[in-house]
Amino acid sequence: MLIRHKKASDVASHEITPKDVYVNRRRFMQASGLIAGSIALGALPSAAAVLPAKGQKFADVKKGYSKLGDTDSLSPPEAIYSYNNYYEFGSSKEDPAKNAGPFKPLPWTIKVDGLCNKPGTISFEDFIKPHALEERVYRMRCVEAWSMVIPWNGISLGEVIKRFEPQGSAKYVRFETVVRPEEMVGQRDRHNLPWPYIEGLRLDEAANPLAILAIGIYGDPLLNQNGAPIRLVTPWKYGFKGVKSIVRMSFVEEQPKNTWQVMNPGEYGFYSNVNPEVDHPRWSQASERRIGGSGGGLRGLIAPRQETLMFNGYAEEVAQLYAGMDLKKFY
Ligand code: MTE
Repeated sequence: MLIRHKKASDVASHEITPKDVYVNRRRFMQASGLIAGSIALGALPSAAAVLPAKGQKFADVKKGYSKLGDTDSLSPPEAIYSYNNYYEFGSSKEDPAKNAGPFKPLPWTIKVDGLCNKPGTISFEDFIKPHALEERVYRMRCVEAWSMVIPWNGISLGEVIKRFEPQGSAKYVRFETVVRPEEMVGQRDRHNLPWPYIEGLRLDEAANPLAILAIGIYGDPLLNQNGAPIRLVTPWKYGFKGVKSIVRMSFVEEQPKNTWQVMNPGEYGFYSNVNPEVDHPRWSQASERRIGGSGGGLRGLIAPRQETLMFNGYAEEVAQLYAGMDLKKFY
């Protein structure tokens, strides 16, 4: 099996190549012991306290988890902003950046319901307020065999879940993207996906310290095309699990049917963990193209293929969640 375990000592700090102020300001911390969910968060400023005004960067972002290999330098911002999948804005990679302008991510509310003791409909600001904002530098591996390395700013999903007190019968958490056909041109296309876009996680997956709800990227609030104002990031799973612009989070007993599974159950499953040994029916998952990677550019000049890692390189952190499951099976 292609599992490449990296020790903390293997992890290099990454000086970032692209343009930004960000690049000069930041160095990436080494991984050891820095799974931020396990760090006492009480003394940190809350995420709402550091929400920037338009055009400003986030203040006081705590360094979170970053575990990257030798070939992983941060993807250039222009790649992250202009090569997207967000079918609500159209199905080609350029559509979201082109069409997401009229979308209004604020004001925003999130409904939390289902099998929990503290349901409610909560404003975006109150939703994030109790939580510390962290920077997490993660690989993102799309099921279409391309990848990027993205510096997210976000809050721990596990901490969010605790706050709503799921009941014993809750086994999964289900997420829903907003439906606003008047602002989302792809939702007006009858031949597109069924809406709302749905995703789900088993509750113990959602509680894993790697799982975050991102509200920022590169130190700025999320761009519309990246899922503003709040989206899921689970770096050990294929990118489609990262449901964008979340308006509803429900605690449920039954495994939710996610959008891509409904669309094509022969090709997409619920768990969808990155696995180089289980090919997509139409292509190999053993390797990936790093978009904007070193030696490559955004389009046309894409970096050479690189090996895909089991659980996208996060096996140490998440493999125990799937003990007893046959990893060669398509889920
Ligand atoms: N969420 C919604 N609501 N709609 C989508 O079409 N696409 C998914 C995921 N989340 C998608 C979505 C896919 S296939 C990927 S690879 C990632 O978002 C891409 O995230 P990015 O555009 O920020 O790179």
